[in-house]
Amino acid sequence: MGRFENQVVVVTGAGSGFGAAMTRRFSDEGATVVAADINAAAAEAIASECGERVHAITTDVSSSDAVLEMIDRGQALGGINVLCNNAGFSHQSGRPWELEESEFDRVFDTNVKGVWLGVKHVVPHMIEQGGGVIINTASIGAVAPRPGVSVYNATKGAVLTLTMGLAVDLARYKIRVNALNPVAADTDFMKGALGVNELPDANREAIIKGIPLRRLTEPDDVAAAAAFLASDDASFITGVGLPIDGGRSIS
Ligand SMILES: NC(=O)c1ccc[n+]([C@@H]2O[C@H](COP(=O)([O-])OP(=O)(O)OC[C@H]3O[C@@H](n4cnc5c(N)ncnc54)[C@H](O)[C@@H]3O)[C@@H](O)[C@H]2O)c1
Repeated sequence: MGRFENQVVVVTGAGSGFGAAMTRRFSDEGATVVAADINAAAAEAIASECGERVHAITTDVSSSDAVLEMIDRGQALGGINVLCNNAGFSHQSGRPWELEESEFDRVFDTNVKGVWLGVKHVVPHMIEQGGGVIINTASIGAVAPRPGVSVYNATKGAVLTLTMGLAVDLARYKIRVNALNPVAADTDFMKGALGVNELPDANREAIIKGIPLRRLTEPDDVAAAAAFLASDDASFITGVGLPIDGGRSIS
């Protein structure tokens, strides 16, 4: 009997990296999962890998109509217990003042507005159902920013502040809201931020040097933390930004 038997979990950005690992973890532990991604093929691929408990949907989290459709899908499957607002991306690393305005808007629309839209559309259902869990993927960059991705880090700071405020707003409805703060991982996200197809060894070594446990984040580290925060073991935990960073933020 898995921890999430008879539960419905919605994961955004489910087609790759952390979201794919969350989808595997929650479905392995018995949940019905709505795997949402802007990349339709990636959402379909994780759903067919995981089997009939995982339902793919194409969703751009920055579109209110699309997020509403995603939440309606989860409700039709029995009512959403857990929403993982995980989709996100970074502009390329570089001089923040040289970023195109359109890139600034896109990164805030996806990373910040996307989280808020998920909250906006799921919370009325969770209130009616008597509770729920919301988990937002922020970043260790929210609390310990490094140069080059300042605008991206600001989006994650906003996600963390939103998480803490919502935790207080929603506690009376038995809705817990927490954030995940991973350090660098070798996912498509990282390659996009660096503008490369493969993470060069020199970059990898430089990043690892700054992490006391001397490795990058693995997607399964993030999935395990999400499953913990979604579980009853975390029933008294709300409003935290959980570092998944091998000690980077305290070194
Ligand atoms: N990889 C890292 O180093 C790292 C570190 C800290 C935090 N994060 C955060 O973790 C989350 C997941 O990143 P990842 O490393 O798994 O990246 P990833 O690129 O492997 O996966 C992100 C997924 O989100 C999807 N996506 C992008 N824009 C979307 C949109 N508008 N609507 C719906 N889906 C969208 C992509 O198609 C992709 O499948 C992101 O929020 C990212 O900011 C990543």
